[in-house]
Amino acid sequence: MLEISEDGRTWVLSGPASSYAVHVTDRDELLHLHWGPRIGLADAEALAVRPLPDYWPFESPLDGREEYPVEGGPRFVRPALSVRTAGRRGTEWRFEGHDAGDGELRLRFRDGDLAVTLHYRMPSATDVVERWVTLDNRGPDAELLRADSATWTLPDRDAWRLSQLHGRWGAESRLTRSGLTHGEKVIGSRRGHTSHQHLPWVALDTDATEERGEVYGCALGWSGSWRIAVAQLPDERVQITGGAGYDESGLLTLGTGESYTTPVFAGLWSEGGFGGASRAWHAYQRAHVIPDAGRDRPVLFNSWEATEFDISEEQQRALAERAAAMGVELFVVDDGWFGARTSDRAGLGDWTPNPDRFPGGLKPLADHVHGLGMQFGIWVEPEMVNADSDLYRAHPDWVQYQPGRKRTEFRNQLVLNLARDDVREYLWGQLHGLLADAPVDYVKWDFNRCFTDAGWPDDPYPQRLWVDHVRGLYALLDRLRAAHPGVAFESCSGGGGRIDLGVLSRTDQVWTSDNTDPLDRLAIQHGFSQIHPARVMAAWVTDSPNVMLNQRASSLRFRFVSAMAGVLGVGGDLTRWTGEELAEAREWVELYKEIRPMVQRGDQYRLRPPQGGLSAVQYVLGDETVVLAWLQAQRYGEPVPALRLCALDPAASYECLETGEIHRGAVLLHHGLRVGLRGDLDATVVRLKRK
Ligand code: GLA
Repeated sequence: MLEISEDGRTWVLSGPASSYAVHVTDRDELLHLHWGPRIGLADAEALAVRPLPDYWPFESPLDGREEYPVEGGPRFVRPALSVRTAGRRGTEWRFEGHDAGDGELRLRFRDGDLAVTLHYRMPSATDVVERWVTLDNRGPDAELLRADSATWTLPDRDAWRLSQLHGRWGAESRLTRSGLTHGEKVIGSRRGHTSHQHLPWVALDTDATEERGEVYGCALGWSGSWRIAVAQLPDERVQITGGAGYDESGLLTLGTGESYTTPVFAGLWSEGGFGGASRAWHAYQRAHVIPDAGRDRPVLFNSWEATEFDISEEQQRALAERAAAMGVELFVVDDGWFGARTSDRAGLGDWTPNPDRFPGGLKPLADHVHGLGMQFGIWVEPEMVNADSDLYRAHPDWVQYQPGRKRTEFRNQLVLNLARDDVREYLWGQLHGLLADAPVDYVKWDFNRCFTDAGWPDDPYPQRLWVDHVRGLYALLDRLRAAHPGVAFESCSGGGGRIDLGVLSRTDQVWTSDNTDPLDRLAIQHGFSQIHPARVMAAWVTDSPNVMLNQRASSLRFRFVSAMAGVLGVGGDLTRWTGEELAEAREWVELYKEIRPMVQRGDQYRLRPPQGGLSAVQYVLGDETVVLAWLQAQRYGEPVPALRLCALDPAASYECLETGEIHRGAVLLHHGLRVGLRGDLDATVVRLKRK
């Protein structure tokens, strides 16, 4: 809902529980008025006439109060917009008016030949505010040193705390919380992709707990380099500014008639604690971001940990047969099926099946997999090339490089320059052909190195390459999705190196981490769930001891219950699993299919975080609920605590589908469910149905 004051200078956007209000003064300053519980227009108008503080000359009254601080004028905060034209630096805009329609509010400003439009949208039935900016240049070249998507302003409070997700390869999305201090906390990526190091999300609270208290969150929808700066200003006010690009060294140059649209920076206010905020983010993504989120994701098998680069059609058929017998619904051939890809040293870029390994192409295997009743998927890494490939030999200038400098290789590969039309066209032809030649239902789209030498012949450091690579990726994905609507896509980047709202709007799920150790995964999944729903969080059961990471041994039960908290997959070498293990796995897959609607479409409650002892997650959908609980290590023989459940009707009874026991809702809510876990790395699944 949008309310507008009579003079057309105050606006209030409202969702089911929250409002967001802004005001343009008669000096054309765009001030932030309110973000929090629902208010009406009269409240916003009362806020609009409150005088700004009367600071003495070393502070600006605008700082910490503007919606989108531009560079120049009476401001000392980090500018969200920094523009340079031949004669001028900075921005001095005039308010031109507003338009509203299709649930969107547009506030239009102009500085000479540059039009700046701020966009606001609250998608239906959510409290998420989507913000972005468009810049249209009618004049001579305008260099955008910085063009953020939004600046968010928090209300005055005594002490703010920042939550963020940090990590590295094999250890993504780990949650940390710390008190803000004066100055700025900057997170981001200067790697060309979203990165394993930080997810583009922050949350700010003062005294929230898991299920209570105010939480503000912001998440950026951009899959390239990015930056979010959280600033605590001298008068304690807090602002969060974010957008594409990490540095100030320049984002793009807008020629005459050119325009730039920033990615969306979404913000959410919730008073349901960290859990309530996460559930609101999840519901928003399922309803407005993730394509076709109402359709559950199938249980998949992925060949990577089982066979790595040493693959053949016969061996994949054998794995497929075992996977099908286990109840797997989608069989994915990972790396090693194409070109000369017998190791990570060759073949990337040559997207035709290796003739020795797949003499008849991929179709015979795909047909076999379909015959077994499963969908068929493949791995690709289209944005990359090995130096040892036909593609690189034919087009050494198609990669990002700086003329006269070494071409840095990571994992023996170089990054293709997706800003080039010919490169995108080539990739389109290759991928479209692949999807047309064999009945492929699923594509795992990988990205296994960061940008280093982002150059171009004749233009050694072209800034637009960073932005245009991401636009090129999005365009390619959009075009492939439109041409092959039945094909699902997974975003992968050496695990979770490219997870953000931008890529999620054009992929069906993400590969959470290359770390498939079920214990480490609990912490990674706990962090992931702060912002993204289980519906996109792929998790595989692999071999024990864990081959990829740490040699930790764990039971099939523990591995399955860990992976069942997301989109279940299996990634072990099934040819080495015993008959008993295969039979047990089949039962777990069957159980997963029963709880899948709750996990993938239900509301998630984090009952206890993974901190060494007992941890648990509950999913609720309609009259059914499921609890997944894990015990890392039992100490002193003490029984594990009962798990107080959430979102049940205290007056109702619930039947445990595992034991047939009847529980009172009030008892489960206030005294808890006893799960009886013992020893080390134990786990259980408990389903409850309202009677
Ligand atoms: C990345 C992915 C893995 C696997 C390998 C293949 O590391 O994250 O899952 O696909 O590449 O080379």
